Amino acid sequence: METKRSQELYEEANLYTPGGVHTSIRNVDPHLIFTKAEGAYIYDADGNKYLDYQAAFGPYILGHNHPYVNGKVIEAIQRTDLYGVGTTDLEIELARMICRNVPSAEQVLFCNSGSEATYHAIRLSRAVTGRTRLIKFQGCYHGWHDYVARNMLSKWDMIGKRDPGSAGMMDEAIDNTLICTYNDLEDVERTFKENDGQVAALIVEPIPHNIGCILPQDGFLQGLKDLCEAYGALLIFDEVITGFRHDIGGFQKVAGVTPDLTTMGKAMANGYPIAAVAGKKEYMQRFNTYPGGDVWFAGTYNGHAVGTAAAIATIDLMEREPVHEHVFRLGERMRSGIREIHARLGMKAVVAGFGSVWTTYFMDFMPQNYTDLQHNDADFYVRYRKKLLERGIYKMPMNLKRNHVGYSHTEQDIDHTLEVIESVLKEMLAE
Ligand SMILES: Cc1ncc(COP(=O)(O)O)c(C=O)c1O
Repeated sequence: METKRSQELYEEANLYTPGGVHTSIRNVDPHLIFTKAEGAYIYDADGNKYLDYQAAFGPYILGHNHPYVNGKVIEAIQRTDLYGVGTTDLEIELARMICRNVPSAEQVLFCNSGSEATYHAIRLSRAVTGRTRLIKFQGCYHGWHDYVARNMLSKWDMIGKRDPGSAGMMDEAIDNTLICTYNDLEDVERTFKENDGQVAALIVEPIPHNIGCILPQDGFLQGLKDLCEAYGALLIFDEVITGFRHDIGGFQKVAGVTPDLTTMGKAMANGYPIAAVAGKKEYMQRFNTYPGGDVWFAGTYNGHAVGTAAAIATIDLMEREPVHEHVFRLGERMRSGIREIHARLGMKAVVAGFGSVWTTYFMDFMPQNYTDLQHNDADFYVRYRKKLLERGIYKMPMNLKRNHVGYSHTEQDIDHTLEVIESVLKEMLAE
């Protein structure tokens, strides 16, 4: 695989930008400079073409550079943009669509990133309850800010311990975020009891996709809701990945569990920058966008025409076309195909996934939480992905990262991927 041009450009990127990337997790080997994206494919500076399952960490549910979404964005910005005052027609239309589809969304506010959305949701929960503490789960990611940036992809010996994700974080923020084990209701109950009257909210990725795909056990999400109710805390579903990807109503619709607050982003606008926080009207009206509200909510670019038009187009397409039926069918074709390959090769591996998302863990049982993932063969996981990449299949070459199928992937793409997977695994087993 030729990567000479990528290497040259990467050296230049490093002159102007620390590490040459604009998000820490983007620094992977091989370092590629991407120049073009179309449908299910991405292209690098040396002209290599990849079938993309990374999907930019999840936004691309319809496929890259989707003509319908792009067309609606161009149409919008030829007419309108951003005012910094009042309300736009696009904001009203998008808010109506979200409230129509997402069960917990009685009202919604727009911002620009998932991190902003979780920040706002947590601050709101503190204002509503008059409490400080927050519960999150080991391995879940909710953005880069101090309230949540701890115990993400912790080193194994730091699981459940005090593990801030960054230097420079406020001790008060770190220590007021309590860490529980996913799929362990007893642990959550114990934490609530030990901090009785102090927990403002529990935030959870309904499916922790930041560590691949760990499914909630039967009754787990409902159990979280019951515990939040019993201990007077707000339940926040962080649906930044699951929202719109697993159902137009989010995973809450699939699970039949309605949280107090929901954060959304990524697949909501098929790659364009917009995010949202939504929830019960009585809580949402505490934001100071509402007269008398006392929880600050602001952002120069909130509700920009680019993001709102893209989200309207994306959700509109989901309402009119069999987007979810397609990605679920192809996701299942991929998972069952990979399982057959593992069986043929007698491999110790499990394929985890839901709908359009999947990953292969190289271990002999289905993990239920982050602790279990110590059993995954991380070295094999990354080497496997690098070999796929060399053959034109782009899955993030990093441990525990998930893959995404989009509306632009075809059955032929899946079958081709399965062929490459089988030949790569055979080669690796022979080594
Ligand atoms: C579940 C979840 N919440 C929040 C975020 C933060 O979103 P953003 O990167 O848009 O700030 C992410 C990002 O990956 C995420 O996966």
